[in-house]
Amino acid sequence: MKVLVTGGAGFIGSHTVVALYEAGFEPIIVDDFSNSDPQIIEGITAIIGKKPTVYQENCHSMDVLKSIFEKEQIEGVIHFAAFKAVGESMQKPLEYYDNNLGSLIVLLKCMLECGVKNLIFSSSCTVYGEPDALPVTEQTPVKPANSVYGNTQQIGEEILSDTVRSLEHQSLKVLSLRYFNPVGAHPSALIGELPRGVPNNLVPFMTQAAAGIRGALTIFGDDYPTPDGTCIRDYIHVMDLAEAHVAGFRYLMSHESPAIYDVVNVGTGSGVSVLELLQSFERINGLPVPYKIGPRREGDVVAVYADASKAEKMLCWKALRSIEDGLRDAWNWQKNTSKPE
Ligand code: UD1
Repeated sequence: MKVLVTGGAGFIGSHTVVALYEAGFEPIIVDDFSNSDPQIIEGITAIIGKKPTVYQENCHSMDVLKSIFEKEQIEGVIHFAAFKAVGESMQKPLEYYDNNLGSLIVLLKCMLECGVKNLIFSSSCTVYGEPDALPVTEQTPVKPANSVYGNTQQIGEEILSDTVRSLEHQSLKVLSLRYFNPVGAHPSALIGELPRGVPNNLVPFMTQAAAGIRGALTIFGDDYPTPDGTCIRDYIHVMDLAEAHVAGFRYLMSHESPAIYDVVNVGTGSGVSVLELLQSFERINGLPVPYKIGPRREGDVVAVYADASKAEKMLCWKALRSIEDGLRDAWNWQKNTSKPE
């Protein structure tokens, strides 16, 4: 059974490709490599023991997508291909709206035309903004986005729910998975996160700081109203997140109802502070991470972590790996990628 994975060479996409393959699906990758590296395809090949089908294409083109659908007999789509840098999105709003929403619209039109019924959409806990109560459930109100990137996630969810609602006779089943903070890498260290330039996200910066590639990690603020003053997030191992996509896809496949639109949190249910994460990294990997305390970063929420009970009930999925697993795998991947040639 073929599943199209847009952005399948990216961080979450590549791990999902591996998880799909291990679950008996045949992932078909479409990726334009604008923010990913062909080396990841080699890593996937080494893990699964065969070269996956890869289309080096941008999924903004209806003709391209249609020809792939016609050729491959696709059963459904997992749509990762999007820009995701919060800061950059404020500098380049049109690029973000065009790329993230334009390609979603093209993909949906193409799926409807070609009769492809199952779709998983990459959404984010960013839609909750600064929540009034923790943990956040799927009923927690969606707050006005504080970045263009966040807004593309919210509008993307609206496009999907409006489309499903509008279809009277046609079947379309969609799950928006709201990810919390993905960390780690495949335990083989053959695939992982490959940020371009200076990493924006915490764990890639931490591994590069530990490897001596960067200077000290700056902790953005230690005066937040949390026990140690640093922000709290729900860090989920990327392989757990990848497996949540497989569970979501199975759910869609096994439900005959013509129209489904639902949202599901994908997190661990535990909140961890920046300082706790850093100390866990040092403990599990046995090396220091140089760091300093800096000012708060604009747009950061104080604390957010998931109530992940809906995923467990509905998708029979829960996170199985620990934060220590994630930090060990992230460090092994860092060591593997920064090895001299
Ligand atoms: C952000 C987005 C999220 C998006 C994710 C992936 C928001 C509110 N969140 O998550 O939607 O899916 O990126 O790109 O827009 N930190 C440091 N020093 C650093 C880097 C980070 O202290 O050098 C801290 C941050 O202040 C934050 C935590 O680490 O408290 C996690 O930051 P990060 O990894 O960037 O993820 P989010 O901002 O939570």
